[in-house]
Amino acid sequence: GLPARVRIHEVGARDGLQNEKTVVPTALKAEFVHRLADAGLTTIEATSFVHPKWVPQLADAEELFPQLADLDGVALPVLVPNERGLDRALALGARRIAVFGSATESFARANLNRTVDESLAMFAPVVARAREEKVHVRGYLSMCFGDPWEGPVPVRQVVRVAKALMDLGCDELSLGDTIGVATPGHVQALLAQLDEEGVPTDAIGVHFHDTYGQALSNTLAALQLGVTTVDASAGGLGGCPYAKSATGNLATEDLVWMLDGLGVETGVDLGRLTATSVWLAERLGRPSPSRTVRALSHK
Ligand code: HMG
Ligand code: MG
Repeated sequence: GLPARVRIHEVGARDGLQNEKTVVPTALKAEFVHRLADAGLTTIEATSFVHPKWVPQLADAEELFPQLADLDGVALPVLVPNERGLDRALALGARRIAVFGSATESFARANLNRTVDESLAMFAPVVARAREEKVHVRGYLSMCFGDPWEGPVPVRQVVRVAKALMDLGCDELSLGDTIGVATPGHVQALLAQLDEEGVPTDAIGVHFHDTYGQALSNTLAALQLGVTTVDASAGGLGGCPYAKSATGNLATEDLVWMLDGLGVETGVDLGRLTATSVWLAERLGRPSPSRTVRALSHK
């Protein structure tokens, strides 16, 4: 069966805009997040408190985050890799953070300058302090299916890091198909193994990229096994259009079209959301890759 309701974890403002070639002005980001909230999204990942040299696109986190303070009732998680990031986030009153680990050594090195175990050690005091402050913690796990350097990633390797993140005290775990190579059988095999090893399905979210056109099929496969949290990016923002291994996240509009059709509630107004993605695409200077955005905005 399918769930009656899905919680969409919107990542466009963070996972999407962090990949833009040009730095998007802070005011435009703030307007984007407000429009997403107006479209009915209630979990909107806002920005990252990472090293500004690593992700210059999100170096304005201190400026942006306070501009979202009026969004009552909207959860605004932010990415935090280490204690320095946590200090910055807490100083601005963030109530939800996300640490972000990797199932593979290659990506841990590329993304965090650490081994997998060193990254877990870096997260441990972050999660502990966040919990003391009653701040909600999401644990991202990237490269859960394939890795651009290492190829297919064994399920047992993913499960080890997933359990380690949960053992640190994460409230929620997001399984990332960072390069979009997963297929539905692989998704179900990973979810079944996590269930068998005691990771509660209701703590799991899925984070698919649409590189090979599999993101919606993978999402449906996950929903059939009881997952109710799905990450998506408005307009399919994210990834580099020139890099074969990194096209965009699952587009929120494509997800909402499917869930509307299935009668699964999301609370999202598809018309408003599409208008937002068209509005942003005009400002970014290129059309949205989302099939649903294109279909609904075709004149
Ligand atoms: P490092 O170079 O090893 O840093 O980078 P360090 O710990 O050695 O510190 C060096 C200097 O950076 C120090 O300053 C720190 O204070 C400063 P110094 O003492 O030399 O003057 N520093 C910071 N400054 C501001 N904010 C901070 C911070 N931390 C240290 N938070 C580090 C290690 C983790 C910092 C770096 O690798 C980093 O920032 N990485 C983040 C990269 C990133 O954001 N990637 C995109 C995430 S997307 C993702 O992971 C996938 C996901 O979307 C899901 C999916 O699609 O799969 C989630
Ligand atoms: Mg992503």
